[in-house]
Parts: sequence; structure tokens; C-alpha cells
Amino acid sequence: MFKADSKRYEKLPYDRLGYSGLMVAPISLGLWHNFGGAAAFENCREMVTGAFNLGVTHFDLANNYGPPPGSAETMFGKILASDLKSYRNELLIATKAGYDMWPGPYGDFGSRKYLLSSLDDSLKRMGLDYVDIFYHHRPDPQTPIEETMGALDAAVRSGKALYAGLSNYNATQLKAARAVLKEQKTPFVVNQVKYNMFDRAAELEMVQTAEVLGIGLLIYSPLAQGLLTNRYLNGVPQDSRAGGNSVFLKRDDVSNEMMQKVVALSKLAAARGQTVTQLALAFVLRHSSVSSVIIGASRLAQIEECHRTMENLTLSSKELEAIELILQ
Ligand SMILES: NC(=O)c1ccc[n+]([C@@H]2O[C@H](COP(=O)([O-])OP(=O)(O)OC[C@H]3O[C@@H](n4cnc5c(N)ncnc54)[C@H](OP(=O)(O)O)[C@@H]3O)[C@@H](O)[C@H]2O)c1
Repeated sequence: MFKADSKRYEKLPYDRLGYSGLMVAPISLGLWHNFGGAAAFENCREMVTGAFNLGVTHFDLANNYGPPPGSAETMFGKILASDLKSYRNELLIATKAGYDMWPGPYGDFGSRKYLLSSLDDSLKRMGLDYVDIFYHHRPDPQTPIEETMGALDAAVRSGKALYAGLSNYNATQLKAARAVLKEQKTPFVVNQVKYNMFDRAAELEMVQTAEVLGIGLLIYSPLAQGLLTNRYLNGVPQDSRAGGNSVFLKRDDVSNEMMQKVVALSKLAAARGQTVTQLALAFVLRHSSVSSVIIGASRLAQIEECHRTMENLTLSSKELEAIELILQ
């Protein structure tokens, strides 16, 4: 029987997600990879309960995480049932719909029919009555924005979600969606976007737009799927994402040029008493509109290393200049 560490809430700070009452720690755990049908239950359980013991309360899922699609939610549901049932009120559980999920015209993008039936399926897979955040996973250029935002609103009004979220919306799309959500009085709290040292598009507009609108940013792939760690410094390990079957990170994505940058960043990190992983997370967390980084992991030790980022979050202007030079 899992019993959570009684000191878990002394290990991370919690802050509000944008202009909302919902609090989140700077580190969240995502279940995109390593939680699918082929994953070992014990390892998944160790990561989720281990993260919770470290003060991580937010777990990020989507209908299609696996493979096969849906299996990460099923795995998470098993962990909830075996270990975390009595902690439900302490957990911030998020799921999404917006990518291809089932065949035919009703299993993709942003119709009301897709979003609401997908949410029902997600709840069944996880054995939950409600999720804390239900996201539209990506913008839909074909469906009227009022319909998609109306579906998010209906999800909340039905009690099957507490808050609405968006993901992968650019600044213009975010403003348009937010105007509809505001008119509907939907409790909308977050845009979830990709941002890391190797992919800095979010710096152009999103970081400032979220700040101005009072919307929290949750950042996915803050370690560039593992490229911004020591994982690939001596080749591509077989048990790594790039060494496995992921269609999202392939062997060829690990370039010499990138690894040279990681070596240089590692030296800079060492001078701060950090690893390159921790430097990469501190870099993303330096913006006030960034509420949390959603890390992925294949073992608990990785989560523990990420967690220790909190020991040094401050980056001096000199360090930021040195980082810019390396990333150029
Ligand atoms: N909204 C969206 O469209 C969207 C898209 C993508 C992701 N997401 C969310 O964001 C989450 C995180 O994405 P991500 O997995 O790409 O994040 P990431 O944190 O950039 O990469 C995670 C990978 O980095 C490696 N890693 C993590 N910590 C490490 C450490 N301390 N030392 C060495 N390697 C380490 C692991 O690779 P190995 O597995 O090789 O060990 C891990 O699987 C997802 O789970 C999902 O919840 C959302």
C-alpha cells in the first residue's frame, strides 16, 4: 500500500497558473512516452509515485498517448487505482483531444462530437469522474472556433473537467480563442506549448502574450525530448527514445553539431554546480509566465535529477550571454 512522503509539499514551490487560483509546481510529469502498452507497470508506478513524493502534483496525458493510443491513460488509471486513489484531491490530472484518435470523420481535430466523446473515453480509461484540465490539443483550421471552445465549455459545465486548456495555439489563435472563452465565462487557465534551448519559437510572442493575457504557460519537451541531457553524448543508447521506435525522435535527429552544443552547455552548467539537464530546465523556467515544465522520463532517477534544478534557478546576464553564444 503506497503511503506518500509526509514532507512532499516542502520540496517544491507552488504558484498560480496565470491569473487563476490553480496552483502548480515548476516541475510536472508527462506520460507521452514510456507509459504505453509495452511499458513495465512497476517502472511506471515508481515514476508516478516517486514524482508525487517529490511534490509533483501535475500529471499530463492525452487521449492518444501510448502506443497504442489510449494506453498511457489506461496505465495511469491502473496506478491511480493501486496507489493514488486516496490522493485524488491532491492531483492535477490533465488530458487532451485534438489529434487523430479513431477512424472516420469524428476522431480528429476540434468538433464538439470528437472532443466530448473523447473526454468520456479518457475518463473511462483512467477510472475518473473528472479531469482537472481538459485541453484542445491543437488548433483546427476547419471547425468554427465557437464550436471548439463551446465543447470545452460544455466539458467544464458537465463537471467532467474543472478547467479548460489549449495546446499548440499560436499568439493570434490564443487571443481569438480566449475572447470566445471569456465571453462564455469558461474557466480557461493555460496554453501548453513547446519550448527549449533548441526550439525557441515561444520566445517570439507566446511568452509575452501569455503574460499580458494572464494565462499560464506549461512547457512541453523542455529537454528537446532528451537531446538536452547527457543521454546522447556517447552515441545513441538502445534504451533511449532516439534508440527505440519513437516516430518523434529518430537516430538521425541526434546530430554532432547539437552534441557539441550540449558539451559546451554541460561545462557552463558544471560551473554552476548543475548538469546540462538542470541548466536547460532553469533556462525555460526563467520567464515569469512559464508556470511549469512538463518533463518526460524513462526512470525515476531522471525525475530526481530534474527536481534538483530547483536548487539553482537564477541565471545571471553573463550566463545568459554565454548560453546565447553556444546556441547561436
Ligand atoms: N501538447 C503537446 O502537443 C505535447 C507534445 C509533446 C509532449 N507533450 C507533453 O510533454 C511531456 C514531456 O515531453 P517530452 O517527453 O518530449 O519531454 P522532455 O523532458 O523534453 O524529454 C523527455 C526525455 O528526456 C530524457 N530525460 C529526462 N530527464 C532526463 C535526465 N535527468 N537525464 C537524462 N535524460 C533525461 C528521457 O529520455 P529517454 O526516454 O530516452 O530516457 C525522457 O523520456 C510529454 O510527456 C507530454 O505530456 C505535449
